[in-house]
Amino acid sequence: MPAAARAVRAFVAAHGREPTLLVRSPARVNLIGEHTDYNDGLCLPVAIDRELCIALRRTDDVAAGADPAAGAHLRLVSEQDPTPAVIELPPPPADTPPSARATGWTRYVQGVAVQLAASGQLAASGQPAGADLVPWQGALASDIPLGAGLSSSAALELAVAVACTHLAGSVPAPTELARLAQRAENAWVGAATGLLDQLACVGGIAGHALRIDCRTLTVTPVPLPAGLAVVVIDTGSRRELVTSAYADRRAECERAARALGVPALRDLDALSADAASRLDPVALRRARFVIAENARVDAVAEALTRGDAEAAGRLLLAGHRGIRDDFEVSGPELDAAVAAAYAAPGCFGARMTGGGFAGCAVALVDRARLEAFTETFEPAYFARTGREAVLHVCSAVAGTSVTVLPDE
Ligand code: GLA
Repeated sequence: MPAAARAVRAFVAAHGREPTLLVRSPARVNLIGEHTDYNDGLCLPVAIDRELCIALRRTDDVAAGADPAAGAHLRLVSEQDPTPAVIELPPPPADTPPSARATGWTRYVQGVAVQLAASGQLAASGQPAGADLVPWQGALASDIPLGAGLSSSAALELAVAVACTHLAGSVPAPTELARLAQRAENAWVGAATGLLDQLACVGGIAGHALRIDCRTLTVTPVPLPAGLAVVVIDTGSRRELVTSAYADRRAECERAARALGVPALRDLDALSADAASRLDPVALRRARFVIAENARVDAVAEALTRGDAEAAGRLLLAGHRGIRDDFEVSGPELDAAVAAAYAAPGCFGARMTGGGFAGCAVALVDRARLEAFTETFEPAYFARTGREAVLHVCSAVAGTSVTVLPDE
């Protein structure tokens, strides 16, 4: 059963009545442009048809049969956790110490509520800032694998943000929503991530990848050729301690930019011998990767636009080598998946995708040869790793949206 139908069913089971709204928020896969977002660089994600859905209903609407017992809070049940997320309203102040914040997935919901309350984004157009969060109850269902690098957390953040702003009658710009969700993740959850995930999730366009300039926040749609399948390969591997390795990479890139006298690595097109001599070996590898990766984003966008899947595939393979050898965030299962994918029929190229170390790879595959690709890939990956991979043949879909459900 699709996530949307499961969310509606879970809502009825938990709250004993029908929901009035359905929010859908997609996962994203990044085709190229990895670890470039926090360097003010370029990336090329696709919002994909694996989605997180929240069915919901406001609880303060007396005319529509308010549930006084629901109280002043957001209450969200999930099919993945027996303990609901309950956020008291008004939410806690933004400087609440980390030890007094919610834990687990509830922290993302709470972080969005905190940032919304602090932001003035709840004001309906023409009204003064500072409107209150509307209490609601909801049920969440998701087809986005957790911890796989497909942005299940950004999908949740954006779904909650869109639910709350819709109920408040405000329609913030997608980039504002993305930034707000990023603040929830950076300042409340404590993960110093860039803006790739949130912009991809909120900005998705059916049939297109999104070329994102993370400095100007300009999003340019790039058409995906009809005969090309975007295949996400969940390698089945997951890693702990990814957050600290991510923070290390970010600090190394900032160190390189400082040593090179530029605001961000984005500001460089090449490294001269003189510039390279000012960097320690680690910073040199990181800078070399980011500079080449930014160039690959434009090259892949151009290749896809002219329908040249072979060129796009070669660039993905080059991206994988760079992120493995220079940026050093690949992992054994990701390397095995890329090698097995590229050796299979119909594959133009593949690379790891997302933050790294474990999770998913992405392959560009000739749609006409998908069956042969799958039949060859699955046993080859198993032979290399002893693990079963899960393949998702993805379509590019629209970003986070809200639908008013028909009255029962
Ligand atoms: C994670 C982060 C993103 C981005 C990618 C790497 O997904 O959340 O901001 O940095 O890693 O490209």
